[in-house]
Formats: sequence, C-alpha cells, structure tokens
Amino acid sequence: MKQTLAFDVYGTLIDTSGVYKTLERSIGAETPSFMEVWRSKQLEYSFRRGMMNTYVDFAVVTRQALDYCCLYFKKDLAETEIKDLMNAYKVLPAFADVKATLQDLQKEDYASFAFSNGSAQAVTALLEHTDIIKLFDGLVSVEKTKMFKPNPLVYQHFNESTNSEKGNTWLISGNPFDVMGALSYGMKAIWVKRSDEAVFDPWEMEPTAVVSTLTNLKTILTTYPM
Ligand code: 2OP
Repeated sequence: MKQTLAFDVYGTLIDTSGVYKTLERSIGAETPSFMEVWRSKQLEYSFRRGMMNTYVDFAVVTRQALDYCCLYFKKDLAETEIKDLMNAYKVLPAFADVKATLQDLQKEDYASFAFSNGSAQAVTALLEHTDIIKLFDGLVSVEKTKMFKPNPLVYQHFNESTNSEKGNTWLISGNPFDVMGALSYGMKAIWVKRSDEAVFDPWEMEPTAVVSTLTNLKTILTTYPM
C-alpha cells in the first residue's frame, strides 16, 4: 500500500529563525528571547483559537503574537519595522537538508505533501520562494477546517484531501505538539529533533521514530516494519 508523507512546514521544512536578522536590526540583544516568545505565543494563539472556535488566518495569529511581544518586551516598533518582520516571514529559508531529501524521496513510491497551519496561499509562496514546491505531490492547509493542529480534524482533513489512509500516513514534524496530534489521531509520526535542547513532552505517547535531520528519513521509512 502506497505510503503518504505529510511534511510540517514551519520549523520542519522552513527555518522560522530566518526572521532573526531582521528583528536584530530593530531590537538587538533581546532578539533571542523575543524570537522564542514570538514562536511560542504564535502556537499558543493557534491552540486557543482552535479551542475557542475563533479561527483566523495563521498570518493573523503570527502578527498578533508579534504585537504581544512588542508589548511584553516594551518595544515600540515602527509600522515599517513590523511590515519588514511580517514580510520576512513570507520569505523564510528552507533548512539545508530539505531539497536533497525531497529529491531522494521522489525516487521512491511515496506521495509527499506539505501540510501546514499556514494558508495555502502563504505556504505556496514559501515553497516557491525556497524552490521546493515541485518536489511535492501537493500541499494541504488546515484553513478549510477552520481549526489548527493538533486538532484531530486537521489530520483527518489531510487524509481526506490526499485520498490516503491514516494507517499509511507519516507525519514528519519538528514540532512535538504536531507529532503528538498525528499519533493521537492514528498516523505514524517522525519527530525531527533539530536541536539537542529540544524536549519531547513526557506524555503517554512516543514518536514512531526520531531523527536529527531529514537526511536519514528515507532509511527510517524504508526499514520500518510495515
Ligand atoms: C505548521 O507549519 C505551525 O509548524 C506548524 O503547521
């Protein structure tokens, strides 16, 4: 049975720290902590909105998390600086291991999709900018569900949108919350642990496999007991 691969985007294929330089020009030394709060608040807002049934485009979530950080860190950024930061989010770089991995996987009989909280329009722009869009069979955004990861409805939406089965689907993500959402729904899930400091939440579930880069992904996929 054909295996389907669902690649998370922000933090897995795309390096969100790519905004770092733009931010550093504005706020200097507090950039590392600002970036950390911005990413965690962005995800927290997506979780809250999913639970409150108040869905908005993920770009709005990102902007509101940025506005929160400006208040929290007491940084009065000019509108031009805010615009530069939001634009930087649209042209983030891909991680160095992504293109070669996707090209190598194309030689196998997988159906590969990008799968994201981001809107189809935003993610398409990102994958075109990083020149990897042609390496996917398609892209699935959560937007039609009006929910966000890790709600099981978004993983179900992925399978319905790609005519695939949860039991033959691999979610590949650098985000533990996403891996846990997919496992809980019934997919197999690989955690891309891109930093030594990253911690997987000590719940009652474990990733199907853990990799530190995408480079050895094919080995994991081809040696896994089917
Ligand atoms: C995604 O791309 C937010 O990383 C998450 O869906």
